[in-house]
Amino acid sequence: MPDSVPAADRVIVALDGMDSDQALAFTAMLPELCWVKVGLELFVTAGPAVVARLRERGLRVFLDLKFHDIPATMAGACRSAAGLGAELITVHACAGREALQVSQAAVIEAAAGRPAPTLLAVTVLTSWEEVRFAAELQVREPLERYVPHLAALAAAAGIGGCVCSPQEVSALRAAHPHPFALVTPGIRPSGSPRGDQRRVMTPAAALAAGASHLVVGRPITAAPDPAAAWRDCWPSSRSGGRVDGLVREAGGGTGAQTPLRCGGAGPSGLAGGTRGGRSPPDQRLLG
Ligand code: C5P
Repeated sequence: MPDSVPAADRVIVALDGMDSDQALAFTAMLPELCWVKVGLELFVTAGPAVVARLRERGLRVFLDLKFHDIPATMAGACRSAAGLGAELITVHACAGREALQVSQAAVIEAAAGRPAPTLLAVTVLTSWEEVRFAAELQVREPLERYVPHLAALAAAAGIGGCVCSPQEVSALRAAHPHPFALVTPGIRPSGSPRGDQRRVMTPAAALAAGASHLVVGRPITAAPDPAAAWRDCWPSSRSGGRVDGLVREAGGGTGAQTPLRCGGAGPSGLAGGTRGGRSPPDQRLLG
């Protein structure tokens, strides 16, 4: 059953290009912020402590380290990431079925009876463009078949969702209904520079296609007015700052003692009602 979630819960801000103090200072500029993404840049600079610091602020953490290794190593990394309190954790789908299965088992084990974080399988990075992908990696399948294949592999292994290009969302959503999460980077509001992203879409179009969450970095972090840019990425409202089309999904941070600012009425990793929620300001339609 689809659930209604606050608009701000759908947009995950990627804290790239910052150190720990800068990341904390940046989050303070966005009072309605719910979700942040800690990627390789911030994690390598700041270490695991940054996850705890963000959680102390009531933020929910998507730990995007894109694990890709032999099964035992991936499982160990996922177990440790779950222990940090990350509620979303990425692995690479192309690590294969066994690695995905043992990674999923590891986060369930780490949760020790509490709701486990949601693992998201990265399909094909949004910086890849079709022709170069085929030529450099010698993958013969077109992306329109290869991405669904990876998503199906992940789903069969029990993984809770995928990271994909917004351009692939509608095909994946048709094959994987909610609560399978479809989290999409490659989001570019109208007029925003693409940078190194190739397979992009606007926030509104990605959500309309079936994305459960959007990951947005530079269009917000590099904007002259990040708070305005952040609100520009919110989905439009049909019910007072809440939007339909998302269910409560698996997940939930194994160390969730800190009250969460948003979406965390329960231990659900991706969706949920407000908690301590601030009322979102006026919603804006996106183009
Ligand atoms: O700045 P921008 O909005 O392009 O940031 C996108 C973020 O999403 C980056 O942190 C990038 O590492 C991440 N990402 C991506 N493509 C994927 C998976 C993650 O761009 N397939």
